[in-house]
Amino acid sequence: MNALSEIKSRFDRVLNQMVDDPSKLLDMIRPAQDSKFGDYQANCAMPMKSMMGQPPRQIAEQITSQLVIDDLCSSVEIAGPGFINLKLDDEWLKHRLTKALQDPCLGIQPVEAPGTYVIDFSSPNVAKPMHVGHIRSTLIGDGLAKTLRFVGHNVITDNHLGDWGTQFGMIIYGYKHFVDADAYSENPVGELGRLYKRVRQIMDFHAARDQLPVIEERRVNLNAELEKLESVGESGNPAVDKKNRKEIGRLKGKISEQREQVAELESKIAAVRSDAELLQQAEQHADIASEVLTETAKLHSDDAENLALWNEFLPCCREDIRRIYDRLGIKFDHELGESFYHNQLPGVVQSLGDKGLSRESEGATCVFMDNYDTPMIIRKKDGAFLYATTDLATIQYRVEQWKPTTILYVVDHRQHQHFEKLFDAARLWGFSDIEMRHVSFGTVLGDDGKPFKTRSGDTVGLEGLVDEAVRRAAQLAGELNSEMDEMTLEDIAQVIGIGGLKYADLSQNRSSDYKFSYDKMLALKGNTATYLQYSYARVQGILRKGDVDVAAMRTNPVEFRFENEVERKLGISLIRFGETLDEVLVDYKLNLLASYLFELAQTFSVFFESCPVLKNDDGDLKRSRLQLCDLTARTIQTGLSLLGIGVVEKM
Ligand code: ARG
Repeated sequence: MNALSEIKSRFDRVLNQMVDDPSKLLDMIRPAQDSKFGDYQANCAMPMKSMMGQPPRQIAEQITSQLVIDDLCSSVEIAGPGFINLKLDDEWLKHRLTKALQDPCLGIQPVEAPGTYVIDFSSPNVAKPMHVGHIRSTLIGDGLAKTLRFVGHNVITDNHLGDWGTQFGMIIYGYKHFVDADAYSENPVGELGRLYKRVRQIMDFHAARDQLPVIEERRVNLNAELEKLESVGESGNPAVDKKNRKEIGRLKGKISEQREQVAELESKIAAVRSDAELLQQAEQHADIASEVLTETAKLHSDDAENLALWNEFLPCCREDIRRIYDRLGIKFDHELGESFYHNQLPGVVQSLGDKGLSRESEGATCVFMDNYDTPMIIRKKDGAFLYATTDLATIQYRVEQWKPTTILYVVDHRQHQHFEKLFDAARLWGFSDIEMRHVSFGTVLGDDGKPFKTRSGDTVGLEGLVDEAVRRAAQLAGELNSEMDEMTLEDIAQVIGIGGLKYADLSQNRSSDYKFSYDKMLALKGNTATYLQYSYARVQGILRKGDVDVAAMRTNPVEFRFENEVERKLGISLIRFGETLDEVLVDYKLNLLASYLFELAQTFSVFFESCPVLKNDDGDLKRSRLQLCDLTARTIQTGLSLLGIGVVEKM
């Protein structure tokens, strides 16, 4: 047990005697904001006022008088209206630090009741290059898998590849009509990528041409409305004028939105018009959108030709994404894509029907549920199955195979509705005792605050992003270490570049959008992987310089000493690693781990500036400080490794 959970369990014993369910109150025990007030703070007496009808201070006194915590805390004080401030006992703290120093797992005990987690993450639609939109799911999923495993849970990772969707209809269509046979035999992945892009462009071109007049008309109408409102002028009635101004603002906003849409559609049209060959193809393939659907439907109904093409294409597509996973160091236990469930879909529909959960509506098979305006369609009128049907089959398979306690879906927030419905339907279907959770996340934005795109408006390819991060890291590493040979520099650049990229993402609250910036990502100061990697390398430099026998120091430690207040502060920070991991897993927020590591590294930096380590005449104090250095470096290293980020010995 870590300090926080130990404190909570002591409070639990007391609060249990006072209220029915103390869990909410226990959540109010937290690390102190300011070390002036101790190490931890319990604010639970405040809300108990209404329950017990006594002043909080009196309640706090009642709690502390019954609290058995002397072995853990050297002082328990009531402050202000009834805050309880707790200071950890130095001996207890030193004991914990010693245990952590000696343990390869840094004193983190495995959870008492391990769960079995299936994590569905990354899950790109293959047959098109991976882009920046895929990075968050990939990194968050991998980080959660590593963290859950580290604390002792059983974890199964599964990349639910989109390998059966319309994008295959697109490349099949492209292959049948536009393939360059030589290019395909030389570099199939490259040619398939080109075909995908070509078909996409032509489809977008036609869609844009159809849509443009509609939007234009909308814009004209909005403009007319705006002019009318503006011509009315001030009426003198403040309420009416206010309402008018508000409406004018709303209309202007709408108009500029439409203008942007028009610009986007026009650029899609222009992209095709500026290329004579492409334009000709576009004109010749006016029905491309419905043809692509037909090719997809043929694939789904086992058409021999399309199935053969799919079997030929899929390994190439997989190979293409494998490369990027390798570079990012991402592995999966399973990669059961949508196609894997293809044969199970009729059974799913049958089973839901048998249980009376679905019915026909306008030719489609639907699951109607309370609390939703629209049903979940599981089979379309034309017999096609849907994304949701596959997801139901997937749940069934996972439960039968792996008997999970929890399934996590790391998928962007736009699929929120889908998962809400899916989970409810699955519960009705019989999977009610499994926790299913959509771990959603926001969008990666560019400097302009809009979804991150290249200058030409394309999505940013993941591979290019990694290349650029590594290139910049090489430059940085070169500046820091001019005398290093090329090979080492190249290795370091990989670790720093990819680490920087991962951390830039994982240090953000996953629910929010965030702005991507190469410069911030690799900054030596600030909340970056580079700063943490630098702190780690700095310690390794000290250990090398002092010629320290690290293994001996760990097995045979001296007693930790707190001569300087910052040594104790560093000690507190170090033992908080375990409780940080607990916090991370409450709501699957890896950014809490990042913030923790950043704070630890900052405290270490203050320690290092104010406490001489190697230049210390007192041998035991020197060793105690070296132990703090070692423990800090290992905590940073372990913490970063849970985020999928490496360290280097020299920087
Ligand atoms: N392939 C989907 C997409 O790119 C994500 C799949 C997420 N996982 C799932 N089981 N639905 O949008």
